Amino acid sequence: MSDGTNLILVCTKGKHCKRREGKDVFRALKKRISKYKLEDYYKVEKAECLGYCKMGPIVSIPEAEITYCHVRPSDCRTIFKRYLRAKKPIKRLILDKKVLAH
Ligand code: FES
Repeated sequence: MSDGTNLILVCTKGKHCKRREGKDVFRALKKRISKYKLEDYYKVEKAECLGYCKMGPIVSIPEAEITYCHVRPSDCRTIFKRYLRAKKPIKRLILDKKVLAH
């Protein structure tokens, strides 16, 4: 985003992610950002279907071109610590779009 805020999208509105804890993932990420008072740097938004329904819940960080799949609320602490603070992607959660193409 042009104002310096990094956008984090969580699919909560798509049918599959809604059923699979998408809203809990959203809440967990919001809570982390709020706990560390990083609202000026990260904006977590609910998203419509991001196109990877069977791999949900999906978390997308467009600025970093990262899409995480099968995210559990318990993964949000790791996402926060590893990615948001240290900028290290979490390999086990990264959606491999090449695999999906086959
Ligand atoms: S329902 Fe979440 S990516 Fe489609």
